[in-house]
Amino acid sequence: MTMRTVYVNGEYLPEDEAKISIFDRGFLMSDGVYEVTSVLGGKLIDFESHKIRLARSLSEMSMIQPAAFDDLLEIHRELVARNDIGDGLIYLQVTRGNPGDRDFHYPPADTPPTVVLFTQAKPDLVDSPLAKRGARVIAVPDMRWGRRDIKTVQLLYPSMAKMMAQQAGADDAWMVEDGYVTEGTSNNAYIVKDGRIVTRALSNDILHGITRAAVLRFAREAQMEVEERSFTLDEALNADEAFFTSASGFVTPVVEIDGEKMGDGAPGPVAKRLREIYLEESLKSAI
Ligand code: PDD
Repeated sequence: MTMRTVYVNGEYLPEDEAKISIFDRGFLMSDGVYEVTSVLGGKLIDFESHKIRLARSLSEMSMIQPAAFDDLLEIHRELVARNDIGDGLIYLQVTRGNPGDRDFHYPPADTPPTVVLFTQAKPDLVDSPLAKRGARVIAVPDMRWGRRDIKTVQLLYPSMAKMMAQQAGADDAWMVEDGYVTEGTSNNAYIVKDGRIVTRALSNDILHGITRAAVLRFAREAQMEVEERSFTLDEALNADEAFFTSASGFVTPVVEIDGEKMGDGAPGPVAKRLREIYLEESLKSAI
């Protein structure tokens, strides 16, 4: 694997020279927030929306905006250029920084946040084999904390859920709380019934997906019916189609839930159409 150039606190460095403190709150306390932005044809998809959500996550965590906040577009572009990314992802993480020791209290508010960005090349982001085949998901209980609207780096439970899926021979897990599906381990969840697209309404229970917002807008523009409400696992099992959305998966059809096939077990027409519309429209506004 070739050496990437990554960004750490104002510097562009080869990945093996990039370092942060062992006292960093991100490392010790998972005290940090992140964003994942997709890159298509060397351009950023929905960059402004990711920046706005980052500002909100920071504010909800009582974290100051890093000095680099206003330069984020330039930093993203620089990393795309230096790493020659055609299609891929840019990961950004901001933590509460290094207080110089371990302490549950937050450090003084003027402690500089740690800012890290790196690229991940994904040549088959658009022609994704998973999107073509359709994902198999299992249902697992949602055991995360109560502020899932903040994009924090506490990803242990989603990671465990992903392993449960893998052990069950599935691709991903949908999390269920009080009988209702919240979201996927790293994506927002949808079902389609009688032509209607159903997805959980925004609240503290789920991440406010940037892809979700765009897909719902495009769906409404295409005169498709959208219902923002919670749906049960049972409803999902009896739906005509299912799919999920995220910056890394765009619109990915779901063809099996808990071993039960959706329809004929092939990606559904609504999911396929939404994926096409999403890619087409997002490319038009990529920067
Ligand atoms: N995950 N819900 C959860 C729990 C997520 O982690 C994500 C994104 C989404 C979709 O949000 P968006 O459309 O803004 O990507 C929903 C990213 C991609 C990740 O952790 O890699």
